[in-house]
Amino acid sequence: VIVPKPSVRDLRRSARPDSSRESYLRLDRNELVPEWDRKVFDGVLAELTPASFSAYPAVRPLYEQLGASLGVPAAQLLLGAGSDWLIRACFDTFCQPGDTVVLAVPTYGMYDVYARLNGAVIHEVPYSGDFSFPLEPVLASLRERPRMLGLASPNGVLGSVISTSDLRAIVGAAREQRTLVVLDEAYLEYGEDRSLSLLPEYDNLVLVRTFSKAGGLAGLRVGYAVAQTELIGWIGQVRPNVEINQVAVVACRYLLSHPGVIRQHVEDTLAGKRLLVKRLRAQGMTVVPGAANFLQVKLGAHREAVLGAFLREDVLVKDQAGDPLLGEWTRITAGPSREMEVVARIVDAVISRG
Ligand SMILES: Cc1ncc(COP(=O)(O)O)c(C=O)c1O
Repeated sequence: VIVPKPSVRDLRRSARPDSSRESYLRLDRNELVPEWDRKVFDGVLAELTPASFSAYPAVRPLYEQLGASLGVPAAQLLLGAGSDWLIRACFDTFCQPGDTVVLAVPTYGMYDVYARLNGAVIHEVPYSGDFSFPLEPVLASLRERPRMLGLASPNGVLGSVISTSDLRAIVGAAREQRTLVVLDEAYLEYGEDRSLSLLPEYDNLVLVRTFSKAGGLAGLRVGYAVAQTELIGWIGQVRPNVEINQVAVVACRYLLSHPGVIRQHVEDTLAGKRLLVKRLRAQGMTVVPGAANFLQVKLGAHREAVLGAFLREDVLVKDQAGDPLLGEWTRITAGPSREMEVVARIVDAVISRG
């Protein structure tokens, strides 16, 4: 067999479950719960034509529309197949073998993969046990003059937010060291959008966002990066011939023209999250709600029984057994109250059986 280059040969990738998750209540990967509203879905379908499939995509109108909705020029945006691809593009653009990359961990797992693929030396800065952002250790790590710093806010594992003042301190210190800061904001819509205001000041900051979470388009694979024009221009050098597919273009344009849809997704999800947090706490469980569309809970003595019951009821959650920070925690994606009621009832039933 022909052996790949060392950075590929030495990667350890986790196996993906290959069975369909469609028939489950999917609370394991922070997608939109449950499905799209049928009327909204039909609205998108109505805008597709046979040419949507046969012609190469017309991506430009989406750049313009997205720029207008964010209040930034289209020249500061880059679209791609999920925020995942944009994270990859940042590494492919800036990271060379031997460069140091600092990651505040735990974080989105593909940061590590794309850094390694580009031959980086990874310096992990851990979050503390209370899930708070490690500001001082991150600032200290910048003294090594790393090439890149990978952050997420809200964090996709813990739900923790980096405050605007902490972010400003970090990006400013990074700028002095010529370090690029990549800020993954996949869960932005569940909190406040404050980072855009930093962009005019910093030429070393890339914001990476997605339509997969509050937008509910995880299956269509569309995300975007925002940065100053020159920086985004460099990242655009590594884009494929066409950034995203035409069905994704149509669906995103629909969402941007109907901003109430995402607002409703967020409202329903946060109401359901409040319900579930309350019900789990009423059972004496420790819950960290975080600022995204999921919560972390210690199921404690009931863990095995509750996880078994979830499985029997076709509910998928993310068990984190074996993880040094999160071994005792289970991550549950939040959705509307009806779905969260299903989860709460399963937990109540297990506990009342003793
Ligand atoms: C924190 C975080 N970033 C990025 C992603 C990737 O999302 P996508 O590629 O679907 O935009 C995820 C997906 O779970 C995530 O949790």
